[in-house]
Amino acid sequence: MVKTLFFLLLFCMVATSAHAGLKVVGKGDNMRYDPSSFPPVMKANYDIMKVKCIKCHTLERTVVAIQTGVAPISGQPFDRNATKAYGVKMLRKPDANMSKKEVKATVELMNWLLDQVNQ
Ligand code: HEC
Repeated sequence: MVKTLFFLLLFCMVATSAHAGLKVVGKGDNMRYDPSSFPPVMKANYDIMKVKCIKCHTLERTVVAIQTGVAPISGQPFDRNATKAYGVKMLRKPDANMSKKEVKATVELMNWLLDQVNQ
């Protein structure tokens, strides 16, 4: 019994710490990541995302996709295999105003974020 409780406690601690680095702040249109604990490369990628990926919709769409693993509009899976396709889809939209390099940076960031969520 004590052993079970101990493992339960341990599990909770591990589960919380895995999410500790991925802080979502704000609600609705204001929803975004708090990048203070991101590694420098991902911070730089986030600087691109928070400018380029809010032109047509807010960051909520991206955050929800990453947190839930489901793309909120199409209802399709949003996992590591899908991020690149979504990035390219956004790049191809009229007036996307993004370079391939910028999209690549946001795809890398989305993959990293997915890893943090699914640890
Ligand atoms: C030119 C406008 C535009 C820009 C810029 C844009 N998006 Fe989108 N985004 C859309 C539209 C329109 C949709 C609605 C669904 C669709 O057409 O795929 C969408 C949908 C989405 C979805 C949900 C997809 C689904 O199938 O549910 C995600 C996630 C997303 N965008 C992420 C991003 C990211 C990340 C970036 C930056 C790399 C970005 N968007 C930049 C227009 C844009």
